Formats: sequence, structure tokens, C-alpha cells
Amino acid sequence: MVWKYQAAIMTLGMTALGAHAITTNYTSTVDPTKLNIPNIEQTTSHDVVAQCKYYQPPFTLDKAAWPNSWEIATSNGMNTSAEYTALYNSIDWTKAPANVKQKTKGPDGALNLQGYDTANDPDCWWSASQCTKPKAQGVNADIVNCLEPNTWGLTYDDGPNCSHNAFYDFLEQNNQKASMFYIGSNVIAWPYGAMRGLKDGHHLAGHTWSHQLMTTLSNQEVLAELYYTAKAIKYVTGVTPLYWRPAQGDLDDRVRWIASQLNMTAILWNLDTDDWAANTMPGVTPETVQQNYKNFIQMGSNGTFNTVGNIVLSHEINNMTMDFAMQNYPEIKKNYKHIVDVATCMNFTNSIYIEKSITYPTFDQLVNQNASTATGSGVSPGASGSSMGTQTTVNGALFIAALFGVVASLF
Ligand SMILES: *[C@@H]1O[C@H](CO)[C@@H](O)[C@H](O)[C@H]1NC(C)=O
Ligand SMILES: *[C@@H]1O[C@H](CO)[C@@H](O)[C@H](O)[C@H]1NC(C)=O
Ligand SMILES: *[C@@H]1O[C@H](CO)[C@@H](O)[C@H](O)[C@H]1NC(C)=O
Ligand SMILES: *[C@@H]1O[C@H](CO)[C@@H](O)[C@H](O)[C@H]1NC(C)=O
Ligand SMILES: *[C@@H]1O[C@H](CO)[C@@H](O)[C@H](O)[C@H]1NC(C)=O
Ligand SMILES: *[C@@H]1O[C@H](CO)[C@@H](O)[C@H](O)[C@H]1NC(C)=O
Ligand SMILES: *[C@@H]1O[C@H](CO)[C@@H](O)[C@H](O)[C@H]1NC(C)=O
Ligand SMILES: *[C@@H]1O[C@H](CO)[C@@H](O)[C@H](O)[C@H]1NC(C)=O
Ligand SMILES: [Zn+2]
Repeated sequence: MVWKYQAAIMTLGMTALGAHAITTNYTSTVDPTKLNIPNIEQTTSHDVVAQCKYYQPPFTLDKAAWPNSWEIATSNGMNTSAEYTALYNSIDWTKAPANVKQKTKGPDGALNLQGYDTANDPDCWWSASQCTKPKAQGVNADIVNCLEPNTWGLTYDDGPNCSHNAFYDFLEQNNQKASMFYIGSNVIAWPYGAMRGLKDGHHLAGHTWSHQLMTTLSNQEVLAELYYTAKAIKYVTGVTPLYWRPAQGDLDDRVRWIASQLNMTAILWNLDTDDWAANTMPGVTPETVQQNYKNFIQMGSNGTFNTVGNIVLSHEINNMTMDFAMQNYPEIKKNYKHIVDVATCMNFTNSIYIEKSITYPTFDQLVNQNASTATGSGVSPGASGSSMGTQTTVNGALFIAALFGVVASLF
């Protein structure tokens, strides 16, 4: 049943692709349905040193073909490469929103809002007014909350990371899927983390190459940050994300328009735990973050989300943020009807990656998972490749058409 449905959708997907003029030139030898994660210390240990010390990526990386790690993605000559130039020139820049200027940073590195008309916010600049409904034409609107009532949209930024197996084990043991916003530089440094993210059934999305304030970058730099992150995820996992999240939510209609040229849409949030800031930003303590979690949890049972759900910003960035997430999980579960990744709460199914053959469950399918027998006709990601100790359950929630090979060869 799912088979036929998949085949029909694939045909549509390919038609849409043909009509889309933008040149993307991702190559990957990785089949996302057969991810191979070996049973070695760096993928199974919970000791940070053991996991990270001798990290051996399963790829040989041609450093000349990638931007420098954690530098703006035009670095290392990327913006003059044939590949990037072809991409850049395939975009009709005359259609870009004409009046939206590149923003600047003050001496302290923070965004400079001086002189900007915040009251009218002509650029739909999130950092100025939290605007998420674009004012310019031809621009994808941001997604800020799950539409399903009493639903917690679970998202983690800033991965992957060599040392996060314990956290991914926790999610796996709870059969819990999340949207993971990966930094391109981290994906290249720690590919097993990204491979595990996909294999475990999480929704992978981009979080830029070097985590800059996007509105302060040139058109060329914005495009490179988005492109090389998508390419990095494709290179190591075999899927190319169509959703992304800007660092600190810094987004305006110029940046949205550039993302839209890559058919990419931003996923923001409507609740922010501020977890990364504890003991880092003045006035933010671990208690502040725990109180944020408490409030958001209470909203799950006091009617705040009776008609729509939320999307909560949290991070896998370090031990502390992961611990906040794990400690609060049982109470979130008690107070909300559902905790799901954004792809699932929005019924995105097969439109989250360029590879249309990769399909996530609809909200109904996930919620009624136990009643469903549909999984019989799908192939789980990496089902045939794993020898990883902790990975005994395959993700029945993720349906993959076995015709994948046919589609994959198009990219
Ligand atoms: C662009 O996104 C739309 C809506 O999600 C989708 O229908 C279309 O197939 C996508 N095109 C490409 C090239 O991925
Ligand atoms: C390429 O990017 C670098 C670094 O951002 C910049 O200095 C240089 O001017 C760019 N080159 C071209 C040809 O645009
Ligand atoms: C696409 O990649 C292939 C293989 O790496 C290369 O030969 C070709 O020139 C690239 N095309 C563009 C438009 O960059
Ligand atoms: C629900 O809880 C939140 C967080 O404590 C609070 O801000 C909000 O006012 C409460 N809403 C209702 C309807 O009680
Ligand atoms: C990787 O994870 C470790 C441990 O959680 C953390 O201390 C470190 O900052 C992370 N690195 C990056 C680049 O996020
Ligand atoms: C954080 O570190 C402590 C102490 O090393 C450890 O017990 C805990 O499991 C770690 N948390 C995560 C999420 O790795
Ligand atoms: C998701 O799809 C189900 C039907 O499969 C529908 O009932 C639900 O309203 C949809 N939710 C959203 C947010 O589109
Ligand atoms: C499915 O059943 C298992 C075991 O009975 C249970 O732990 C799990 O919560 C159920 N999942 C859903 C989505 O209802
Ligand atoms: Zn981030």
C-alpha cells in the first residue's frame, strides 16, 4: 500500500525538480537506507575522551573541496570554485528583494539595530521584531510552531558532536524523534554523529556552515553557508535537507529569499529554553533555564496549547543542555499529549529532503504507530548496515521506498 503511494509521489517530486532551475551539484556515495555505523569506541562509548580522541571519519575528505571549518563558507576559495560559481550564476539575483540591506555588527559583535525602522520592520527582520511572515514576494514563510494541539515540537541545535552518544541513546530508548539542526562544520568533523541522527529516525535540517549572524553576511556568503551545509549533510548521510534554522534566529527577507532559491524554508520556534546561555550569558543561570522548562511544561496542561502546538528551541551543544533536556523529558511527556519532531507534526512526509524517496510518518501515523501495519512495506534507514550495540530497534516510523536507488542516481 505504502509502496504504490510512494511511487506516485516520487513521480511528482521528479517533475517539480525538473521545473526548478537552480543548479545543485551534490554528490554522495552514501545510501541513506544503508548507513553503516561500525561498533567502535567513538560510536558506542559514553566517555567523551574515548569518543572524540582518535576520531576517524569514515570518509576521506578532500580539504580543498570544502570551506574552512567554522569560517564563513566562502573561505578556502569556495566562492571562486566552478561548482559554487555555477550555483551562484543559476540564481536570478535581479529578483532579490531590492530594499533589504545587509545588516552590520557593533564593536561588541552584536547586531546593530541603530537606524533601523523597527516599528514598521520593512525587512521582516526577526532579530528586530520577531517577524516571521515575509513582506517580500517569492519568499518562503518561516515555520514557528507545530499546528497539532497539545504537541511539543522537539528540536536540538548545534550538533552533531563526537561525544553525544549517551544523549542519542536516551532518545532512542524513549523511541523519541527530534528535529536536529546540524552545523556543516560539525557534520564534516564528526560524520558518525550525523549518520546516527538519520539512522535513528530524526529529522535532519541545516544550521549553517559556521554559525554566523546571517543578516550580516553578503549574498554570496549567505548562499555559501546554506549550500555547503546541505552538501555536507548529503555527503555523509545521503540526504539533502530542505529545512534550516539560522543561528540566533537572525533572518530577514534577503536571507529568506536566498534560502528560497535553494527551496529551503526556515524553522524557528515560539518557545526558547535559553539552555545554551546558562552560566554563559550574564543573568542566565541553570535555575533560569529550569524555570523556563517548568513554565513551558505547565503550558502543556493549563490550556495554552489547546488549539495549536509549539516548537521549543533547545540545544545538544554540551553536557549541561543535554542534561536539561533529559531531566525535563518525563514531565514534558506527562503534560503534553505528544512530543514529536517538526517533520512529523507538520505532515511533511517526503518533502523534507531533496530525495523524495525518503519519507517520514504523518502525525497520525506516528501517534497510531502501534496500530499500524504499514511498516511492512518500507525499508528502515540503515536496517541492513548496523552492527551497533545499542541499535536493536529499527525505526519503523520512517518509510523508505525501495526504489530509492533509481531516484538517488538523479542527484
Ligand atoms: C520545493 O519545495 C516544494 C514544496 O515543499 C516541493 O513540492 C518541490 O518538489 C521542491 N523542489 C525541489 C527541487 O526540491
Ligand atoms: C570570495 O570570498 C572571500 C572571503 O569572503 C572574499 O574576500 C573575496 O572577495 C571573494 N571573491 C570573489 C571573487 O567574490
Ligand atoms: C558537478 O560535479 C561534477 C563532479 O564533481 C563536475 O565534473 C561538474 O563540473 C560539476 N558541475 C558544476 C556545474 O559545477
Ligand atoms: C499557563 O502557564 C504559563 C506558564 O506558567 C503561564 O504564563 C500562563 O499564564 C498560564 N496560562 C493559563 C491560562 O493559566
Ligand atoms: C561537543 O560536545 C562537547 C561535550 O558535550 C562540548 O563540550 C563541546 O563544546 C561540543 N563542541 C561543539 C563544537 O559544539
Ligand atoms: C554529563 O556528564 C556527567 C558527568 O560526567 C554524566 O554523568 C552525564 O551522563 C553526562 N550527560 C550526558 C547527556 O552525556
Ligand atoms: C496531518 O494529517 C492528518 C491526516 O493524516 C490530519 O488529520 C492533520 O490535520 C494533519 N496535520 C497538519 C498539521 O497538517
Ligand atoms: C507503543 O507500545 C509500546 C509498548 O506497549 C509503548 O511503550 C509505546 O508508548 C507505544 N507507542 C505509541 C506511539 O503509542
Ligand atoms: Zn546554534
